[in-house]
Amino acid sequence: MDGIFLRPLCQADLDLYCRWQADPTVFGPYDAPAGCSLQHLRMRYSKTGMLSDKAGCLLVIARPAQPVGFVQYCRHCADAWVMWGSVFIAIPDMRGRGLGTAAHRSLCAYVFTRFPAIHKLECWTDRENLAEQRALAKAGFVHEGTLRARNRLRGAFRDMAVYGFIRTQWREPAP
Ligand SMILES: CC(C)(COP(=O)(O)OP(=O)(O)OC[C@H]1O[C@@H](n2cnc3c(N)ncnc32)[C@H](O)[C@@H]1OP(=O)(O)O)[C@@H](O)C(=O)NCCC(=O)NCCS
Repeated sequence: MDGIFLRPLCQADLDLYCRWQADPTVFGPYDAPAGCSLQHLRMRYSKTGMLSDKAGCLLVIARPAQPVGFVQYCRHCADAWVMWGSVFIAIPDMRGRGLGTAAHRSLCAYVFTRFPAIHKLECWTDRENLAEQRALAKAGFVHEGTLRARNRLRGAFRDMAVYGFIRTQWREPAP
């Protein structure tokens, strides 16, 4: 079994999650922190537990119990059967050990189990983010192409690699 599992945030995780959201090392060279106030997070948490039908966030927990990152999902604004996902292994020392790959697999399982109407999980990443692309490929995502100038990072337009996982590819783990 993979060395991680996903779990919803609890109230006590909000401080850590807030710090991660403001920390550039968490996002690496191909993304940037958007930041988020603790007050806003508390409000969001009180409404949805950070897990709504439209968007959500779960912690990545290295067994037995260490929070090492988070995954996010967000429903496509136009296509109701598509969910976008992303994975962040927040602690740099924990990267390169297979946890990102496992987190992508777990995110697939979560999305396809919780949302029966979702047929496709899509992950976009910077074309130069080779670690993320390798983790996606190892998790079974298929590289579908590159969108040119589809992100703007620190003033520069960036090409994005698109990876997809279709529900029909996915096998529910045996009980
Ligand atoms: C991208 C990320 C989620 C991947 O998670 P991870 O735990 O490091 O990934 P894994 O260990 O499962 O797999 C990484 C693979 O990429 C490879 N890799 C790492 N850096 C690489 C590089 N510069 N070039 C090529 N391959 C690279 C690793 O060797 C490994 O492949 P292998 O198992 O065949 O050796 C993690 O590194 C991270 O959170 N980075 C910062 C945030 C980020 O970029 N998130 C993605 C947002 S779209």
